[in-house]
Amino acid sequence: MAKLERKEQGLVERALDSRERAYAPYSGYRVGAALRAVGGEIFCGCNVENASYGATICAERGAVLAAVAAGCQSFEQLAIATESSPPAPPCGLCLQVLVEFCDDLSILLVNPRGEVVHTRLSRLIPKPFSG
Ligand code: THU
Repeated sequence: MAKLERKEQGLVERALDSRERAYAPYSGYRVGAALRAVGGEIFCGCNVENASYGATICAERGAVLAAVAAGCQSFEQLAIATESSPPAPPCGLCLQVLVEFCDDLSILLVNPRGEVVHTRLSRLIPKPFSG
C-alpha cells in the first residue's frame, strides 16, 4: 500500500469496513465510503440497492447525507473503497453532490488489495454545474 498518514489510514479502513456492509444483491458491486469532516468526525456510507434499480443510493452520497444530517457540512477528506483495479472514482451524481459542500476535497480511491490512488474533487469534476 502507498504510504499513508495515520489519519488517512484510519479513513481507508473505515471505507473498506463500510464496503463489507454494502447491500448490492443486483449488481454484486460493493462500495464503501468514509468522509472525514473538519474536526475529525468520520461519516460512512455503503451502496444500498433496490429492486427498483433507480432507487439505489451510492456509498458516497450515503456518507454525505449522514454527515449533513449530523450537522457537518465542511469536509477534509473522502476515502472510497471498491473492488476495481485501479480503484474506481465516484459517479457523476456523487461528484456533483460533493461539490455542493466542497470547493475541493482530497480523495483516496482504494481497493481491498491495497491499491491507493490519491486524487482531488476538482480533478474528477473540473466543471461542475453551479446554476
Ligand atoms: N455505486 C456507488 O456506490 N458509488 C458510485 O460512485 C458509483 C456506483 C454503486 C451503485 C450500485 O449499487 C453499484 O455501485 C453498481 O453501479
